[in-house]
Amino acid sequence: MNQSEQLRQRALQVMPNGNTRGAVWYNPYPMYVAHGNGAHITDVDGNRFLDLTNNLGVLIHGHAHPAIVEAVQKQAGLGSCFALPTEHEIALAELMCGRIEACERIRFINTGSEAVGLAIKIARAFTGKSRIIKLEGVYHGSYDYAEISNYSTPENWGNSPTAVETIPATPAGVLDSVVVTAANDIPMLQKRLQQESDIAAVIVDPVPPRCGMQPLHTDYIEALRKLTREHNALLIYDEVIALRFGFHGAQGRFGGDPDLTAFGKIIGGGYPVGAVAGRADIMEATRTKVGSSGTFTANPITMVAGLAGMQALDQPAYDALENLGHRMREQCTAVIDAQQAPMQVSGVGAMFSIYFHQRQARDYRSYYKTPAENAATERFHQCMLKHGVLIAPTATCFLSTVMSADDEAHFADAFAAAVQDFVHS
Ligand SMILES: Cc1ncc(COP(=O)(O)O)c(C=O)c1O
Repeated sequence: MNQSEQLRQRALQVMPNGNTRGAVWYNPYPMYVAHGNGAHITDVDGNRFLDLTNNLGVLIHGHAHPAIVEAVQKQAGLGSCFALPTEHEIALAELMCGRIEACERIRFINTGSEAVGLAIKIARAFTGKSRIIKLEGVYHGSYDYAEISNYSTPENWGNSPTAVETIPATPAGVLDSVVVTAANDIPMLQKRLQQESDIAAVIVDPVPPRCGMQPLHTDYIEALRKLTREHNALLIYDEVIALRFGFHGAQGRFGGDPDLTAFGKIIGGGYPVGAVAGRADIMEATRTKVGSSGTFTANPITMVAGLAGMQALDQPAYDALENLGHRMREQCTAVIDAQQAPMQVSGVGAMFSIYFHQRQARDYRSYYKTPAENAATERFHQCMLKHGVLIAPTATCFLSTVMSADDEAHFADAFAAAVQDFVHS
């Protein structure tokens, strides 16, 4: 029995299925990590992998980035958290507000889920309305009101999609408070806003992974902005992942001018984080009406790590990530074409996913995976592991600034070998 298997057996005694994080689970059980360095991780059995999960998009500078390690080590000796603010939160706030035009004021919190929840509460408090519109199939974390219709099945589709629970026995009041619409469908959005009352906000991920990992169409983004204004609803962007697509945010690159934005992942440099930012008059609600807080909010370890990470993520770093993503997608497509594999790669900037069909996905419905496609995704994940590359169980790859030319070549070889195995297995 190897070390990972032994740890798995121990974990089974104390955790359901031996696990505390569903999104990173894969069959028969995930390997246990010993350490990470740069673009690589080593498991407890001494196996080394090129890590293209980067903790599902958190580690844009890979593992143990020297500037982040130094900042954290220094701060750890000075105290990890206080019931008082520190200068570090101002520095990270200044960086974020300086980069993203629509972010006039910012408030930190501890996770992306909390950031989404806080953004929705702010929208309710500001507008005096209580319901939201969200996109079918789009993931926004675990806040009850955002966790609706995440896995909506075809019988709930149609022109007025039903809001369906993701978690069994979600209260009817929660379901009634969420209106669902399909990505990139302007007439449906228009109809939903006209027919449904009490809408405080429309929340979207501007590059929704479960809609094909492409930016929302420009005309849809324009319609979102125009229609939300017409209906006195706020537009909330969830850039928990999408901030990685542009130095000025996904909003700076693809437009939209949102009223509020939820952030997370990369802004904490590898430590737990979330933030909500937006128009100053709207953000004022966090002071007057929505008592946002949290024991670990803006803790100085996260703040110094986040600042070091974001400072290292300058415009040249974004440009390099963009080029790397482009080259890697081209490499994948060349392999897929040469081997005539029933797959495609889709993504933007430093992120892409492998899909096991050749439909063009524009929304959740066209992206929706058949059971065979789900099985293929699982199988391909294993094929990549066999060739020394860890990708997310959804076959998604998150690139980092520390990938070298050798890492890129390793990926290209592993991908070609994995597709060969996949096609012939
Ligand atoms: C788009 C999006 N929003 C929100 C979240 C929730 O963030 P967290 O896991 O930090 O709560 C995630 C997490 O993956 C996400 O991808």
